[in-house]
Amino acid sequence: MRIELTVNGEAREADIWPGESLLYALRERLGLPGSKNACEQGECGSCSVLLDGRLVCACLVLAAQADGHAVVTVEGLAEGEELHPVQTAFVEAGAVQCGFCTPGLVVATADLLARVPDPNEDEIREALSGNLCRCTGYAKIFDAVRLAAGR
Ligand code: FES
Ligand code: FES
Repeated sequence: MRIELTVNGEAREADIWPGESLLYALRERLGLPGSKNACEQGECGSCSVLLDGRLVCACLVLAAQADGHAVVTVEGLAEGEELHPVQTAFVEAGAVQCGFCTPGLVVATADLLARVPDPNEDEIREALSGNLCRCTGYAKIFDAVRLAAGR
């Protein structure tokens, strides 16, 4: 089947298999490999994207469900060559090691700060509770969130 959707502000079309995930369509049909595929079960958050402005795990959404809707991926956060402030904060805070979790954490953090510009510790932990990182121990990730919020 063919779907039409808006991805990172651009009208896109894709031929998909009705049972495939939005994550698969983004990565394999639409040339956007930023959203990572780790668990495919909604457990790790590495595939986090915004669907009509709502944070979702792209592995749990059928591509067909995104037909006619708007998706923002990590690739859509930067303004041209200029990184999104959350991306800059992750780099400056040293919150990236292997980087596999980073796109999902960046999208989830950008979503948090758009809703709650000055989150407290509990709000940060709650907002990122669906995003797993196996490298950093989270301390530097939380530093990055506070750094981005401070800006
Ligand atoms: S790959 Fe989607 S939550 Fe892990
Ligand atoms: S930096 Fe490696 S999983 Fe988070």
